[in-house]
Amino acid sequence: MPSGPRLYADLAHLWPLMSPPEDYEDEGACLRNELAKRLGSGRPRLLELGTGGGHLLHHLAGHFEATAVDLSDAMLAHSRRLNPGVTHQIGDMRTVRLGETFDAVLIHDAIDYLKTEDDLRAAFATARAHLRPGGLFLAIPDDYVETFASPRIAHETRRQDGAELTYVEYSTDPDPNDTEIETVYVFFFRENGELRVEVDRHTTGLFPIRTWDRLLLESGFEPERLDYPFSEHGAATYLWVCTASRHPGAA
Ligand SMILES: C[S@@+](CC[C@H](N)C(=O)[O-])C[C@H]1O[C@@H](n2cnc3c(N)ncnc32)[C@H](O)[C@@H]1O
Repeated sequence: MPSGPRLYADLAHLWPLMSPPEDYEDEGACLRNELAKRLGSGRPRLLELGTGGGHLLHHLAGHFEATAVDLSDAMLAHSRRLNPGVTHQIGDMRTVRLGETFDAVLIHDAIDYLKTEDDLRAAFATARAHLRPGGLFLAIPDDYVETFASPRIAHETRRQDGAELTYVEYSTDPDPNDTEIETVYVFFFRENGELRVEVDRHTTGLFPIRTWDRLLLESGFEPERLDYPFSEHGAATYLWVCTASRHPGAA
Protein backbone atom coordinates (compact mmCIF):
# COMPACT_ATOMS: atom_id res chain seq x y z
CA MET A 1 0.00 0.00 0.00
CA PRO A 2 2.68 2.54 -1.05
CA SER A 3 0.47 5.68 -1.08
CA GLY A 4 -1.76 4.60 1.83
CA PRO A 5 -1.42 5.44 5.52
CA ARG A 6 2.11 5.09 6.88
CA LEU A 7 0.64 3.56 10.06
CA TYR A 8 -0.07 0.40 8.05
CA ALA A 9 3.28 0.45 6.20
CA ASP A 10 6.60 1.87 7.48
CA LEU A 11 5.05 2.90 10.83
CA ALA A 12 3.17 -0.39 11.41
CA HIS A 13 5.61 -1.21 14.23
CA LEU A 14 3.82 1.49 16.29
CA TRP A 15 0.42 -0.26 16.15
CA PRO A 16 0.85 -2.66 19.14
CA LEU A 17 2.00 0.27 21.30
CA MET A 18 -0.65 2.71 20.06
CA SER A 19 -3.62 0.36 20.38
CA PRO A 20 -2.65 -2.79 22.34
CA PRO A 21 -4.70 -6.02 22.13
CA GLU A 22 -5.87 -5.72 25.76
CA ASP A 23 -7.82 -2.55 24.82
CA TYR A 24 -10.18 -4.77 22.78
CA GLU A 25 -11.11 -7.28 25.48
CA ASP A 26 -14.58 -5.87 26.33
CA GLU A 27 -15.40 -5.25 22.70
CA GLY A 28 -14.40 -8.82 21.82
CA ALA A 29 -16.63 -10.19 24.61
CA CYS A 30 -19.58 -8.10 23.37
CA LEU A 31 -19.19 -9.35 19.78
CA ARG A 32 -18.77 -12.96 20.96
CA ASN A 33 -22.04 -12.72 22.91
CA GLU A 34 -23.86 -11.09 20.01
CA LEU A 35 -22.68 -13.80 17.60
CA ALA A 36 -23.32 -16.69 20.03
CA LYS A 37 -26.85 -15.40 20.64
CA ARG A 38 -27.62 -15.50 16.94
CA LEU A 39 -25.49 -18.40 15.66
CA GLY A 40 -25.84 -20.76 18.62
CA SER A 41 -23.12 -22.92 20.13
CA GLY A 42 -20.34 -24.69 18.25
CA ARG A 43 -17.35 -23.19 16.50
CA PRO A 44 -18.75 -21.02 13.70
CA ARG A 45 -16.69 -19.95 10.68
CA LEU A 46 -15.73 -16.25 10.86
CA LEU A 47 -14.16 -14.04 8.19
CA GLU A 48 -12.72 -10.68 9.26
CA LEU A 49 -12.04 -8.17 6.47
CA GLY A 50 -9.52 -5.44 7.38
CA THR A 51 -8.09 -7.35 10.35
CA GLY A 52 -5.14 -5.01 10.81
CA GLY A 53 -2.98 -6.17 13.73
CA GLY A 54 -5.65 -8.69 14.74
CA HIS A 55 -6.04 -7.06 18.15
CA LEU A 56 -9.83 -7.39 18.18
CA LEU A 57 -9.64 -10.79 16.49
CA HIS A 58 -7.38 -11.99 19.32
CA HIS A 59 -10.47 -11.98 21.59
CA LEU A 60 -12.58 -13.89 19.06
CA ALA A 61 -10.13 -16.33 17.49
CA GLY A 62 -10.40 -19.02 20.19
CA HIS A 63 -14.16 -19.30 19.66
CA PHE A 64 -14.28 -19.37 15.84
CA GLU A 65 -12.72 -21.04 12.82
CA ALA A 66 -11.33 -17.70 11.67
CA THR A 67 -9.89 -16.26 8.45
CA ALA A 68 -8.33 -12.77 8.34
CA VAL A 69 -7.89 -10.51 5.29
CA ASP A 70 -6.10 -7.15 5.10
CA LEU A 71 -4.41 -4.96 2.49
CA SER A 72 -1.29 -4.53 4.58
CA ASP A 73 1.31 -7.26 4.94
CA ALA A 74 2.99 -5.34 7.78
CA MET A 75 -0.27 -5.28 9.78
CA LEU A 76 -1.04 -8.94 9.02
CA ALA A 77 2.43 -9.82 10.36
CA HIS A 78 1.28 -8.59 13.80
CA SER A 79 -1.89 -10.68 13.54
CA ARG A 80 0.00 -13.78 12.40
CA ARG A 81 2.12 -13.60 15.56
CA LEU A 82 -0.85 -12.88 17.85
CA ASN A 83 -3.36 -15.28 16.25
CA PRO A 84 -1.40 -18.33 15.05
CA GLY A 85 -4.55 -20.46 14.64
CA VAL A 86 -6.10 -18.04 12.13
CA THR A 87 -5.75 -18.28 8.33
CA HIS A 88 -4.33 -14.99 7.00
CA GLN A 89 -4.53 -13.61 3.50
CA ILE A 90 -3.63 -10.31 1.80
CA GLY A 91 -6.63 -8.81 0.02
CA ASP A 92 -8.83 -5.80 -0.56
CA MET A 93 -12.24 -6.01 1.13
CA ARG A 94 -13.82 -4.53 -2.01
CA THR A 95 -12.61 -7.24 -4.38
CA VAL A 96 -11.29 -10.29 -2.54
CA ARG A 97 -13.02 -13.62 -3.28
CA LEU A 98 -11.85 -16.61 -1.26
CA GLY A 99 -14.21 -19.14 -2.88
CA GLU A 100 -15.64 -20.28 0.47
CA THR A 101 -18.48 -19.27 2.75
CA PHE A 102 -18.68 -18.38 6.42
CA ASP A 103 -21.31 -18.12 9.17
CA ALA A 104 -20.29 -14.51 9.89
CA VAL A 105 -18.29 -11.73 8.25
CA LEU A 106 -16.92 -8.91 10.41
CA ILE A 107 -15.58 -5.53 9.33
CA HIS A 108 -14.47 -3.49 12.33
CA ASP A 109 -12.86 -0.03 12.06
CA ALA A 110 -11.18 -0.87 8.73
CA ILE A 111 -14.50 -0.04 7.08
CA ASP A 112 -13.75 3.63 7.87
CA TYR A 113 -11.31 3.56 4.93
CA LEU A 114 -14.12 3.19 2.37
CA LYS A 115 -14.71 6.67 0.99
CA THR A 116 -17.48 6.40 -1.60
CA GLU A 117 -20.86 4.70 -1.86
CA ASP A 118 -19.36 2.45 -4.57
CA ASP A 119 -16.61 1.39 -2.10
CA LEU A 120 -19.26 0.50 0.49
CA ARG A 121 -21.35 -1.38 -2.10
CA ALA A 122 -18.26 -3.35 -3.17
CA ALA A 123 -17.37 -4.33 0.43
CA PHE A 124 -20.99 -5.30 1.16
CA ALA A 125 -20.94 -7.47 -1.99
CA THR A 126 -17.74 -9.14 -0.71
CA ALA A 127 -19.42 -9.83 2.63
CA ARG A 128 -22.53 -11.19 0.87
CA ALA A 129 -20.44 -13.41 -1.41
CA HIS A 130 -18.74 -15.03 1.61
CA LEU A 131 -21.86 -15.69 3.69
CA ARG A 132 -24.08 -18.74 3.72
CA PRO A 133 -27.82 -17.90 3.43
CA GLY A 134 -28.93 -16.59 6.82
CA GLY A 135 -25.32 -15.75 7.78
CA LEU A 136 -24.44 -12.55 9.64
CA PHE A 137 -22.53 -9.49 8.52
CA LEU A 138 -21.28 -7.23 11.34
CA ALA A 139 -19.97 -3.74 10.51
CA ILE A 140 -18.67 -1.17 12.99
CA PRO A 141 -17.82 2.21 11.44
CA ASP A 142 -16.54 4.93 13.78
CA ASP A 143 -18.14 8.04 12.27
CA TYR A 144 -21.36 9.26 10.68
CA VAL A 145 -22.42 12.68 9.40
CA GLU A 146 -24.74 12.83 12.44
CA THR A 147 -22.01 12.10 15.04
CA PHE A 148 -18.81 13.69 13.69
CA ALA A 149 -17.95 17.20 14.94
CA SER A 150 -15.03 18.95 13.19
CA PRO A 151 -12.34 19.47 14.43
CA ARG A 152 -11.91 16.44 16.66
CA ILE A 153 -8.66 16.33 18.59
CA ALA A 154 -7.38 13.46 20.72
CA HIS A 155 -4.03 12.60 22.25
CA GLU A 156 -2.58 9.75 24.29
CA THR A 157 0.71 8.49 25.70
CA ARG A 158 1.54 4.77 25.81
CA ARG A 159 4.61 3.03 27.25
CA GLN A 160 5.90 -0.51 26.79
CA ASP A 161 9.28 -2.22 27.20
CA GLY A 162 11.16 1.07 27.63
CA ALA A 163 9.59 2.68 24.53
CA GLU A 164 7.14 5.61 24.75
CA LEU A 165 4.65 6.77 22.15
CA THR A 166 2.64 9.98 22.32
CA TYR A 167 0.27 10.64 19.45
CA VAL A 168 -1.98 13.52 18.55
CA GLU A 169 -4.94 12.83 16.29
CA TYR A 170 -6.55 15.77 14.46
CA SER A 171 -9.65 15.05 12.37
CA THR A 172 -11.48 17.56 10.19
CA ASP A 173 -14.01 17.64 7.40
CA PRO A 174 -12.29 19.87 4.79
CA ASP A 175 -15.21 19.63 2.33
CA PRO A 176 -18.63 18.99 3.92
CA ASN A 177 -20.03 18.35 0.41
CA ASP A 178 -18.06 15.16 -0.14
CA THR A 179 -18.09 11.84 1.76
CA GLU A 180 -14.58 12.11 3.23
CA ILE A 181 -12.87 13.34 6.36
CA GLU A 182 -9.16 13.69 7.01
CA THR A 183 -7.18 12.66 10.08
CA VAL A 184 -3.62 13.83 10.62
CA TYR A 185 -1.57 11.93 13.18
CA VAL A 186 1.63 13.26 14.72
CA PHE A 187 3.61 10.51 16.42
CA PHE A 188 6.30 11.25 19.01
CA PHE A 189 8.17 7.96 19.45
CA ARG A 190 10.97 7.69 21.98
CA GLU A 191 13.14 4.57 22.06
CA ASN A 192 16.75 3.98 23.21
CA GLY A 193 17.06 7.66 24.20
CA GLU A 194 16.15 8.85 20.69
CA LEU A 195 12.99 10.84 19.78
CA ARG A 196 11.45 10.43 16.32
CA VAL A 197 8.57 12.61 15.13
CA GLU A 198 6.43 11.31 12.26
CA VAL A 199 3.38 12.70 10.47
CA ASP A 200 0.73 10.57 8.76
CA ARG A 201 -2.50 11.52 6.91
CA HIS A 202 -5.53 9.24 6.68
CA THR A 203 -8.59 9.88 4.53
CA THR A 204 -11.72 8.04 5.66
CA GLY A 205 -15.40 7.96 4.72
CA LEU A 206 -18.30 9.89 6.27
CA PHE A 207 -21.90 8.98 5.39
CA PRO A 208 -25.31 9.63 6.92
CA ILE A 209 -26.81 6.73 8.89
CA ARG A 210 -29.62 6.43 6.31
CA THR A 211 -27.01 5.82 3.57
CA TRP A 212 -25.67 2.81 5.50
CA ASP A 213 -29.20 1.50 5.93
CA ARG A 214 -30.10 1.96 2.26
CA LEU A 215 -26.89 0.43 0.86
CA LEU A 216 -27.12 -2.58 3.19
CA LEU A 217 -30.71 -3.23 2.13
CA GLU A 218 -29.79 -2.87 -1.56
CA SER A 219 -26.92 -5.34 -1.00
CA GLY A 220 -29.19 -8.16 0.14
CA PHE A 221 -29.09 -7.69 3.92
CA GLU A 222 -31.68 -7.15 6.60
CA PRO A 223 -29.84 -4.54 8.70
CA GLU A 224 -30.31 -3.91 12.41
CA ARG A 225 -28.51 -0.95 14.04
CA LEU A 226 -27.60 -1.53 17.69
CA ASP A 227 -26.08 0.94 20.17
CA TYR A 228 -22.42 0.07 20.61
CA PRO A 229 -20.77 1.33 23.81
CA PHE A 230 -17.13 1.27 22.63
CA SER A 231 -16.77 4.71 21.09
CA GLU A 232 -13.15 5.88 20.82
CA HIS A 233 -14.08 9.55 20.85
CA GLY A 234 -17.17 9.79 23.05
CA ALA A 235 -19.68 10.16 20.19
CA ALA A 236 -22.42 7.56 19.62
CA THR A 237 -21.34 4.47 17.67
CA TYR A 238 -23.39 1.61 16.32
CA LEU A 239 -22.98 -2.07 15.55
CA TRP A 240 -24.72 -3.07 12.32
CA VAL A 241 -25.91 -6.67 12.55
CA CYS A 242 -27.11 -7.68 9.10
CA THR A 243 -28.67 -10.98 8.12
CA ALA A 244 -27.94 -12.22 4.61
CA SER A 245 -31.26 -12.80 2.89
CA ARG A 246 -31.98 -16.41 1.85
CA HIS A 247 -31.85 -15.44 -1.81
CA PRO A 248 -28.90 -13.27 -2.89
CA GLY A 249 -30.15 -9.99 -4.33
CA ALA A 250 -33.57 -10.26 -2.64
CA ALA A 251 -33.42 -7.09 -0.53
C1 LIG B 1 -7.18 0.56 12.25
S1 LIG B 1 -6.54 -0.76 11.35
C2 LIG B 1 -7.50 -2.13 11.96
C3 LIG B 1 -7.09 -2.53 13.32
C4 LIG B 1 -7.83 -3.76 13.84
N1 LIG B 1 -9.21 -3.45 14.18
C5 LIG B 1 -7.13 -4.42 15.00
O1 LIG B 1 -7.85 -4.91 15.89
O2 LIG B 1 -5.88 -4.49 15.02
C6 LIG B 1 -7.26 -0.52 9.77
C7 LIG B 1 -6.86 -1.59 8.76
O3 LIG B 1 -7.68 -1.47 7.62
C8 LIG B 1 -6.93 -1.98 6.53
N2 LIG B 1 -7.62 -1.61 5.29
C9 LIG B 1 -7.90 -0.37 4.83
N3 LIG B 1 -8.56 -0.45 3.66
C10 LIG B 1 -8.71 -1.77 3.38
C11 LIG B 1 -9.29 -2.49 2.30
N4 LIG B 1 -9.88 -1.86 1.27
N5 LIG B 1 -9.26 -3.84 2.33
C12 LIG B 1 -8.66 -4.51 3.36
N6 LIG B 1 -8.08 -3.87 4.42
C13 LIG B 1 -8.10 -2.51 4.42
C14 LIG B 1 -5.58 -1.35 6.73
O4 LIG B 1 -4.57 -2.02 6.00
C15 LIG B 1 -5.42 -1.49 8.24
O5 LIG B 1 -4.70 -2.64 8.59
